[in-house]
Amino acid sequence: MQTQSINQHYTEDHQRLDDLFHEFQELKATDRRKAERLFHEFKTGLERHIVWEERILFQAFEEKFTHLQSGPTAVMRLEHQEIRRHLDAIAGKLTEENFETSEDEHALETVLCPHNHKEEGILYPMMDHVFSEQERNEMFLKMNHKR
Ligand SMILES: [Fe+2]
Ligand SMILES: [Fe+2]
Repeated sequence: MQTQSINQHYTEDHQRLDDLFHEFQELKATDRRKAERLFHEFKTGLERHIVWEERILFQAFEEKFTHLQSGPTAVMRLEHQEIRRHLDAIAGKLTEENFETSEDEHALETVLCPHNHKEEGILYPMMDHVFSEQERNEMFLKMNHKR
């Protein structure tokens, strides 16, 4: 069995989540129920993606490179906190039937887009390079258990 590439797997998940978010934005004005469902799917998907990164990928990376404790993964973790804040802000408004979320959406995209680019361009390729095939297989197994 060919070991999956971290970069490919996680980049595909970024794309899938981006599509859900854009669909939510497009439907907001015409079909609120569906838009809300799409946002919920996007939010839970992105939160799961972040949990996989923090508890599996980043943790393994930090264990391997203890001297890099305040390195690239620390920055990504801080950005995750900001991403989560914006997700909660939008979700909070939708719960109150308030669809005036454009500013929060913009704020989310301002953090999320460059964040994803950094992961895809630097961090994921670095991880594919430093982890052995066996280590990567173990990570994918763990991800399947945390679905
Ligand atoms: Fe991330
Ligand atoms: Fe990511």
